[in-house]
Amino acid sequence: MKVLITGGAGFIGSNFVRHLLNSKRDVNVINFDSLTYAGNPESLADIAENPRYQFIRGDVTDKQAVDAVFKNGLDALVNFAAETHVDRSIEDATPFLRTNILGTQCLLDAAKRFKLPKFVQISTDEVYGSAPAGVSFTEETVLDPRSPYAASKAAADHFVSAYANTYGVPAVVLRCTNNYGPYQFPEKLIPLMVANAREDNPLPIYGDGMQERDWLFVEDYCSAIALALYKAQPGTIYNVSAGAPQPNLKIVRTILKHLGKPESLMQYVKDRPGHDRRYALDSSKIQKELGWSPKVSFEEGIRRTVDWYQSNTAWLNHARSGEYRNYYDRHYVRRTETFSK
Ligand code: NAD
Ligand code: DAU
Repeated sequence: MKVLITGGAGFIGSNFVRHLLNSKRDVNVINFDSLTYAGNPESLADIAENPRYQFIRGDVTDKQAVDAVFKNGLDALVNFAAETHVDRSIEDATPFLRTNILGTQCLLDAAKRFKLPKFVQISTDEVYGSAPAGVSFTEETVLDPRSPYAASKAAADHFVSAYANTYGVPAVVLRCTNNYGPYQFPEKLIPLMVANAREDNPLPIYGDGMQERDWLFVEDYCSAIALALYKAQPGTIYNVSAGAPQPNLKIVRTILKHLGKPESLMQYVKDRPGHDRRYALDSSKIQKELGWSPKVSFEEGIRRTVDWYQSNTAWLNHARSGEYRNYYDRHYVRRTETFSK
């Protein structure tokens, strides 16, 4: 089986490339990634020489480059390639429309023309919008994206179902909650808090810190994606979640406890505009139909994650150099100043 993985140098993509190569002996993986600020070949250094792995630097909006990969024959595609950070989408939505919508459409066009047997679209729980207390959204919930990032992902989902309906592209859509684990770029909540706390820098908490996210350990998500790749019927949408939303403050306190750092490092800053209060998904459909279930408890997952960042400081420091510094200064220095005025 020859699988094209787009965006495989990012957080979930790199974990999935590794998961697939280690769990399936008959799989060849092509990782097609343009290496934006979030893409990092160091996340796959351990498998770079694997004869069943090939890396191609390319952009999902580049028709010629995409066609060149499809021409050699593919059995499936898993599309992770995306601009993924909500705060950056608030700063400038343009790259989100380009990669998340036009890039998905470019891949769908190739899938149509080359009659790809399976297209797995990696979507997000954010397409449903904010969930009221006590409610977990199902696959039937009407989409209500509320940030520029979420709107671009919802548009991509609509294109996937339009191409399935119009041209018969055999597509499966996965909508997952927040992932955490090794190799996550440190602009996201958990690695950012670990990185700052290690150096006794302030931990910026948006608003009151009581927003809830339904955290899933990345290995558990990888096993769900593999099941979808091998077993899901075309035309199916699956929600994936741990089913246990928790407030941000609780997550940050847990990280501080693991690192032995004081809660006085927490600093309340100006809230994210349009901040979704709560994400929560019902994942009973994938559990029932594909036999998936999460295996890693939050307690174990967060311990493994904090330990990983503690023992991979070279990876972390490299990720936090260059472009990251500009982003951090632009985003947080301004935010803190505005808040304290
Ligand atoms: P990430 O930001 O860590 O990585 C994205 C990858 O896509 C990078 O390697 C980047 O170089 C690549 N990329 C970006 N633009 C590209 C382009 N035009 N052409 C080719 N490659 C390009 O992202 P992630 O957190 O691993 O998320 C992966 C996917 O999962 C995304 O589609 C995201 O919307 C979705 N998702 C993420 C989470 C989460 O918690 N991280 C949860 C639900 C869904
Ligand atoms: O829900 C799935 C989504 O999860 C994915 O589709 C996105 O790609 C991914 O980035 C993530 O989006 P969030 O906005 O939920 O993740 P983030 O890590 O940016 O923020 C998590 C929560 O923590 C959110 O309520 C905002 C808050 N936060 C975040 C940062 C970076 C803070 O309080 N302070 C911060 O500095």
